[in-house]
Amino acid sequence: MAAFDGKSILVLGGSRGIGAAIVRRLAGDGAAVTFTYAGSREAAEQLAAETGSVAVVTDSADRDAVIARVRESGPLDVLVVNAGVAVLGDPLTLDPDAVDRLIQVNVVAPYHAAVEAARQMPEGGRIIVIGSVNGDRMPFAGGAAYALSKSALQGMARGLARDFGARGITVNIVQPGPIDTDLNPADGPMRELMHGFMAIKRHGRPEEVAGMVAWLAGPEATFVTGAMHTIDGGFGA
Ligand SMILES: NC(=O)c1ccc[n+]([C@@H]2O[C@H](COP(=O)([O-])OP(=O)(O)OC[C@H]3O[C@@H](n4cnc5c(N)ncnc54)[C@H](OP(=O)(O)O)[C@@H]3O)[C@@H](O)[C@H]2O)c1
Repeated sequence: MAAFDGKSILVLGGSRGIGAAIVRRLAGDGAAVTFTYAGSREAAEQLAAETGSVAVVTDSADRDAVIARVRESGPLDVLVVNAGVAVLGDPLTLDPDAVDRLIQVNVVAPYHAAVEAARQMPEGGRIIVIGSVNGDRMPFAGGAAYALSKSALQGMARGLARDFGARGITVNIVQPGPIDTDLNPADGPMRELMHGFMAIKRHGRPEEVAGMVAWLAGPEATFVTGAMHTIDGGFGA
């Protein structure tokens, strides 16, 4: 029997990068996985066909659409909120609408998705949100909006862990450092700057993050909640 046989899992933002690795890992371990996407229809359809998961379009910038998607998914054993965007640059010139949209996707959607999932979640359910080591450490200029969105998730996890703890529902944040995806390619312009902060001087692989998510979603993690789990090659050390 596979680790997640019979489990119902929703991944918000699963078409590419870390989210796609999470879908592959959990579906490969037997879960019935549904994942959302916004812009990458072709990648989403390919991943669904490859993994036997279900792809559905839902824009995480639309709070009510996110709530409806979670509600329509029924009782979830595991909710993973991965969808996230980065808006980097001089705060004096950044488009305020882009900053507000980042807060919608990175903060508002995770909060409402987590609360909505908890309404129907069985005892022992898991809520896992992908934050960032930048929630703890922002060592270069231009990252304030992104960092504020990822540190907001920390307070959310601490609070919701207490709200849902009596039901055995855990709430955890996974905080990656630089991971090789479209958002932060290993051969991109930030490579040397980022590796300079790290103890292990390479980008991580999406599969490495998916492994941590699988552990938090699995049977060994029942006593782990309200906590941040950093996987960053020592970026924040
Ligand atoms: N890569 C890193 O170095 C790194 C480090 C720390 C934390 N993170 C976090 O890890 C998460 C995933 O990052 P990634 O590197 O895998 O990014 P990515 O390669 O840009 O992929 C982002 C994923 O999120 C989805 N997404 C984005 N906006 C969405 C929206 N409005 N509605 C629905 N889905 C949306 C995308 O779907 P569509 O393409 O279909 O829109 C895609 O599947 C993010 O929360 C990010 O902040 C990444």
